[in-house]
This record gives sequence, structure tokens and C-alpha cells, in this order.
Amino acid sequence: ATSDFDQYRLTEEQQLLRKSVRELAEDRIAPRAAEIDETGEFPYDVRDALVRAGFHAVHVPEEYGGMGADALSACIVVEEVARVCASSSLIPAVNKLGSQPVILSGSEELKAQVLPPLASGEAMFSYALSEREAGSDAASMRTRAVRDGEHWVLNGTKAWISNAGVSSWYTVMAVTEPGKGPKGISAFVVHQDDPGFSVGPKERKLGIKGSPTCEIHFEDCTIPADRIVGEPGTGFKTALRTLDHTRLAIGAQALGIAQGAFDQAVGYIKERRQFGQAIADFQGVQFMVADMGMRIEAARQLVYAAAARAEREEPGLTFSSSAAKVFASDTAMSVTVDAVQLFGGAGFTKDFPVERMMRDAKITQIYEGTNQINRMVMARQLLK
Ligand code: CAA
Ligand code: FAD
Repeated sequence: ATSDFDQYRLTEEQQLLRKSVRELAEDRIAPRAAEIDETGEFPYDVRDALVRAGFHAVHVPEEYGGMGADALSACIVVEEVARVCASSSLIPAVNKLGSQPVILSGSEELKAQVLPPLASGEAMFSYALSEREAGSDAASMRTRAVRDGEHWVLNGTKAWISNAGVSSWYTVMAVTEPGKGPKGISAFVVHQDDPGFSVGPKERKLGIKGSPTCEIHFEDCTIPADRIVGEPGTGFKTALRTLDHTRLAIGAQALGIAQGAFDQAVGYIKERRQFGQAIADFQGVQFMVADMGMRIEAARQLVYAAAARAEREEPGLTFSSSAAKVFASDTAMSVTVDAVQLFGGAGFTKDFPVERMMRDAKITQIYEGTNQINRMVMARQLLK
């Protein structure tokens, strides 16, 4: 009779998964986080540790050699890694983002070609929708793909591509029928070794410095015809359906950043003494802690509910995923700002991780659709 309440919590497997990822994150990733931020180098050691533990791409279905983890489990991995190092959490997050179009719409042959190397950790995957002049207005992209016999030939430049230069595979949206707007866009999978493909210099950024962000260039880049994802003209829909599944994972990343900063702040205020007592004993500080904890809990419920919706393929995912992303990223920003505040002057220095967490939080309000665009997506769902 209590089964509904039994289900309104993580399964035993999900709780165990959280425990294992947290252990790995504390042991192998947390000690590296400051250095990764300082040097701006991609953390190959962290990638290898995630691969050895099987946490780099848990979403890949079992028939392609993956773990076939559910959407909520995939969120738990991203959340727990982001709790100690947001840069590193982009390894599982972007692997899912890049490969989700293939999982949703790719042919059996394409899946069999590109998913096993992702599952084994041999290859990483990126997602290339944005261009310099087509960010929020993604459908105004200019990158072109033209059919040439048994090949497609791509020309143009994609901008802001996460993990560019580290990933082997790139899902690239390009115009195949100019003048047809979103219906003239198709999706392709490009390999780093395909002729005519190249990666530009790394952007210099405020945060997530250990995840390279670069332009990728296509100069008569020639790929086999069967690397198209689904039918010609369906690429924009596939790109947006993908974001329905992955915006909630950015919510999980934001949630992890917020939880990490909160845990740091709670530890600090119980130790730090002023006016003869722990600063945690001041009501003014306690009210901040209560609000931070409340927002994090609300964000967690939204993210997990959206993940459950993705798993059950329920209608309403578009709204839920955007809502989880927006609420969790706004929470990450406000909680990290407050965490720095609770550390006082120490919070403004690199002696503690909260300043990095505050810088890392900002991107979650910008990518996978700015929070304005995601609010527009939500409103369209509510008003339709
Ligand atoms: N699922 C399936 N189809 C969808 C859809 C969805 N969620 N949303 C829209 N569509 C369909 C529409 O129905 C429409 O098709 P029909 O004409 O057949 O009905 C088609 O897609 C075009 O949709 P719109 O008319 O709504 O398109 P638009 O040009 O007005 O803009 C937008 C849509 C919501 C603004 C979209 O451009 C958008 O989301 N922009 C933000 C871009 C973005 O999120 N980029 C993320 C890049 S990845 C990233 O940042 C990586 C990272 O974090 C690591
Ligand atoms: P613009 O579209 O120029 O927006 C500028 C401002 O105008 C924003 O505040 C925006 O909200 C606002 N605005 C625009 N249109 C509207 C509107 N209709 N209503 C209200 N406000 C509006 N893209 C990928 O494809 N793959 C990736 O892997 C990837 N990774 C990224 C990593 C990083 C670190 C960064 C910074 C970006 C990444 N992006 C990626 C791109 C990202 O998705 C875009 O930056 C984002 O969608 C915004 O586009 P834009 O930068 O062109 O901003």
C-alpha cells in the first residue's frame, strides 16, 4: 500500500552509484580540481579514472557495450563529479550530449559504429550546434553540407564546442536545404580524422577551464554518406529533442556545483570563530544557510523529476528539462555567491574552492540555451 512512497526516492542501485561516484570524486578528482582550473589543461588523468570506473558515459545502451543506465543515474554521475570539479563533470555530460542525437535518431549501422568506442572509453563525443552568428537563434546557422555521390561534404565553422580537440566524434548540425529554415537542417557525425576537419584555438574563459571550448572548422570536409543522423531535414528536431534530454543534465551539473559550495560553506562556518563564537551560531548566517539548503533541495527535486520524465518518455519533458536547468543554474549562481560571502575574505582567495565554484556556476546559466531562451521554451509550452 505504501508503494508510491517507496518509489518517491532513489533506488538502492542509484544510492550505491552515488556512493561510488562520490568516493572516486573525493579521492581522484577533488585533489586535482584547483590545478585543473589554474592550468586550464584537460584532465586526461580524471578522464582515465572515470573510464576505469565506468562513469564516463553510463547512458550508452547495453546493446552497444554500455551500462544502459537510466537518465536519473546519468544525472547522479554528473552531479557528484560537479560537486568537486565542474570541468571534469563535462566529460560525462558532453559525452551524453554528443551521442544523444545518434541514440535518438541514428541508424542501427551508425549506432553500431560510434557507440561502442564511446562505451569503452576509447573515444569521446561532442555536440556542435552553435555558430558565432547563430547562438540563441540556432536555426540561422550557415554551415553547409552537400551530397556528393557516396559522401557528404561539409563547409563552415561551428563555435563554442565543448571538449573540442579531445573528442574523437562530433555530432554536427548543418544546412542541407537552404531557404527551408529549421526543416533544411540535417545532423551528421564527423570524426576528428576526416579530411577537412580541424580544431581552432582554445577560448580563454571565466570558468570550466579544464574543458576546452574551441571552434571547429570544415573545409570540404568529406564524410561517408551513411554518417547522416536520421533523414535529411530532421537534424534541427533531433538537435532540440537531444536538448530535452540533456538540459536536465546541465541542471544536475549546476546542482552538484551548488552542493559542493554549500558543503564547503557549512564546514567553514562551524569552525570559523568571531565575537567569541562560531559564526554558524549567528542567526543572520543561519538564515542564509537555510535558504541555500532549501534552494538546493528544490533544484534536486526538479532535476530528478525531469530525469524520471525523460526515462518514462512522458509528455512535458521539454518544459521539465528547461525548468530544471533554469532553476538549478540560478540556484548554483546564488548559492556559490553566498558561499563566497560566508567565507568572508578567505572566500575571495584561491586558498578555498568556493571562488572557483562561483566562476564555474556562471556557465550553467548560459549554455544549452541561455536562461532567457529556456524561459522562452517553457513559456511556449505553457501557452500552446
Ligand atoms: N523537440 C522536438 N522538436 C522540437 C522541439 C523539441 N523540444 N522544439 C521545437 N521543435 C520543432 C518545432 O516543432 C519546429 O518544427 P515544426 O515546424 O515541424 O513544428 C522546429 O523544431 C523549429 O522549432 P521552432 O520554430 O520553435 O524554432 P525557433 O527557430 O523558433 O527556435 C529555439 C527554437 C528554442 C530558440 C532554439 O533555437 C533553441 O533552443 N536555441 C538555443 C540553442 C541552444 O540551446 N544551444 C545549445 C548548444 S549546446 C551547448 O550549449 C553545449 C553545452 O552546454 C556543453
Ligand atoms: P546570444 O544568442 O548572442 O545571446 C546574447 C544575450 O541575448 C543572452 O543573454 C541571451 O539570453 C539574449 N537573447 C538572445 N535572444 C533572446 C530572445 N529571443 N529573448 C530574450 N533574450 C535573448 N554550443 C554548442 O553547440 N556545443 C557546445 O558544446 C557548446 N559548449 C559551450 C561551452 C561554453 C563554455 C560556452 C560559453 C558556450 C557553449 N556553447 C556550445 C554555445 C552556447 O550554447 C551559446 O553560447 C548559447 O546558446 C548562447 O548563444 P550566444 O553565445 O550566441 O548568445
